[in-house]
Amino acid sequence: MAGNEWLPWIALETIHLGAEAEVISGTWIGRKAILKRRIPRGYRHPALERSLSRQRIFAEARILARLSENKVKSPILFGIDPEEGWIMMSKIDGQSLAKVLQKGADYQVEYKLGQAIRKVHSTGISHGDVTTLNAIWSDDDVILIDYGLGRLVAEMEHFGLDLHSLHECLSAHHVDRPESMEKVLQGYLDNSNSENFDARAVVDRFEAIRGRVRYHA
Ligand SMILES: Nc1ncnc2c1ncn2[C@@H]1O[C@H](COP(=O)(O)OP(=O)(O)OP(=O)(O)O)[C@@H](O)[C@H]1O
Ligand SMILES: [Mg+2]
Repeated sequence: MAGNEWLPWIALETIHLGAEAEVISGTWIGRKAILKRRIPRGYRHPALERSLSRQRIFAEARILARLSENKVKSPILFGIDPEEGWIMMSKIDGQSLAKVLQKGADYQVEYKLGQAIRKVHSTGISHGDVTTLNAIWSDDDVILIDYGLGRLVAEMEHFGLDLHSLHECLSAHHVDRPESMEKVLQGYLDNSNSENFDARAVVDRFEAIRGRVRYHA
């Protein structure tokens, strides 16, 4: 990487080609970076497409900025171009939680996931798509990524829904770890760094949502 600090974006490889986004790893002024580009979907009206894409990029950018301001571990925002439809951020080294859990990790991974979600929530942000693929195990800690569906003015319901989407992910993809959600909730309720945030109320809301969903299923 020597000398790279004088160079802007250098693309290295495409690491993810999803339905909505293409993710390329590379370097930016010598730092490991990720460029996420929205892929226009043919089935939506172009104007709607542009506005959705802009909205998600702005949401993700503003959220990453707020998280850094609040010292919550997260990718550092490097830049955006909402018109072209891309966002650039620092690359988090590590493996997805999905992989780490599949390999059979200690339950402290889920505990730390719970703590990580709570830290994000305590800054007023909801994530919008909490799954084990949108979380990275890095330096013995959990870092959430992919904030395109997040909200900066989150309500109790959004916090509860975050726990609920994780619960659905765990019960669909990590059935061999029956205590996963319990550990997540324990981590979420861990009040060792006592911010002014009512985690208990969020867990209660999550239980209510779970009841609602079961009832209608
Ligand atoms: N900052 C990052 N550091 C390391 N890996 C990343 C980072 N951002 C994205 N990735 C990798 O790329 C994958 C896809 O990125 P991401 O989840 O942000 O996009 P997506 O799931 O297509 O999101 P959406 O459809 O909501 O735009 C991630 O699961 C992860 O493996
Ligand atoms: Mg994702």
